[in-house]
Amino acid sequence: MPKENPKGLILSGGKGERLRPFTYTGAKQLVPIANKPVLFYAIEDLVGCGITDIGIVVGDTRAQVEKAVGDGTRFGARVTYIEQEAPLGIAHAVKIAADFLAGHPFVLYLGDNLVLGGVARFVQRFRGDSSNCWLLLKRVNTPESFGVAELVDGRVARVVEKPRRPASDLAVIGVYMFDHHVFEAVDQLRPSARGELEITDTIQYLIDKGLHVQTEVLDRYWIDTGKMDDILEANHVVLQTLTPANQGQVDERTRVYEPVILEKGARVVNSVLRGPLLIGQDTEVIDSYVAPFTSISHHCRLKGVRVGGSIILEHTSIEDIHWPIEHSLIGRYVTLRGGQAVGGSYSLTLGDHSQIEMPGA
Ligand code: DAU
Repeated sequence: MPKENPKGLILSGGKGERLRPFTYTGAKQLVPIANKPVLFYAIEDLVGCGITDIGIVVGDTRAQVEKAVGDGTRFGARVTYIEQEAPLGIAHAVKIAADFLAGHPFVLYLGDNLVLGGVARFVQRFRGDSSNCWLLLKRVNTPESFGVAELVDGRVARVVEKPRRPASDLAVIGVYMFDHHVFEAVDQLRPSARGELEITDTIQYLIDKGLHVQTEVLDRYWIDTGKMDDILEANHVVLQTLTPANQGQVDERTRVYEPVILEKGARVVNSVLRGPLLIGQDTEVIDSYVAPFTSISHHCRLKGVRVGGSIILEHTSIEDIHWPIEHSLIGRYVTLRGGQAVGGSYSLTLGDHSQIEMPGA
């Protein structure tokens, strides 16, 4: 039976502990990949699937998420916010969204997951078939960090959350499709040892009831951006897919090696830009070297800096740093100045919770 009018449910609550100190003050789903919050990729993917009625589950960082996303109009969607009083589990988020979902089939999308090229092809198949649930799997090197699927004769037999001894290398990625049977499952669940209602237990319930749980091994790049290294990796991969564009200004002393994207009002003086890289709106880069896989957000200022493989968030200023900055995630409103060390010391004024490592000369 084809499934009518699917909705979307994106999870943007939780605590982001693994990104601390970076996310003490910010939602981890708003960390930018190629200057766009990772959450926006999920919204755009759902809209690309033809799903425009989207619920977003929010927690402590609700105000920031609402400010960034608004009512969804700019994405061509209608967004309903659903407040979760504490991060009590992915299945708990589904449970509290039951009124919004109102029995519709839906795509559950974890707001820190990114699938390059999107999931439209799979959602279309889910809509047209008789399955009750669809899981997307990906072979990974560290299955113990994910929900893991065990297949028997090509069908999923077990799904276990972060097993110590994984039965396979097939991670269940954070995009799931369900029909109304999932509501019965989440109502029956008990909290796990870590105190959460687990999405893996929900799926196991459906399997044990003999419902039709379909799986497909994903053929495209997927990443859970929950950790800093993964954010930098995702940035690296996404930057490689962008088309060069110059809406800024580059002086004649600057050398540009494409692909480079300069957003509106970006200004580059006496520098080297070696793409793939992205320089945000109204950002200034002066006397600097920007190496590949770097995203600099809007309203930043870099002067006398060498930076590569890094993400710099908005309104940050970095000047006269002796050593190259590599593999770094630098927050908003950070001021980092080097220059001549006076009496062997640096003078630093830094934004909240910044971590600086400056090796000695
Ligand atoms: O990335 C795929 C993995 O995502 C799956 O393989 C696992 O089975 C699944 O449990 C999940 O594991 P994580 O450890 O990555 O989940 P995390 O706690 O990071 O939460 C995922 C997203 O959902 C994140 O954006 C925060 C949000 N969230 C999470 C919980 C527990 C909520 O909004 N509310 C919650 O209660």
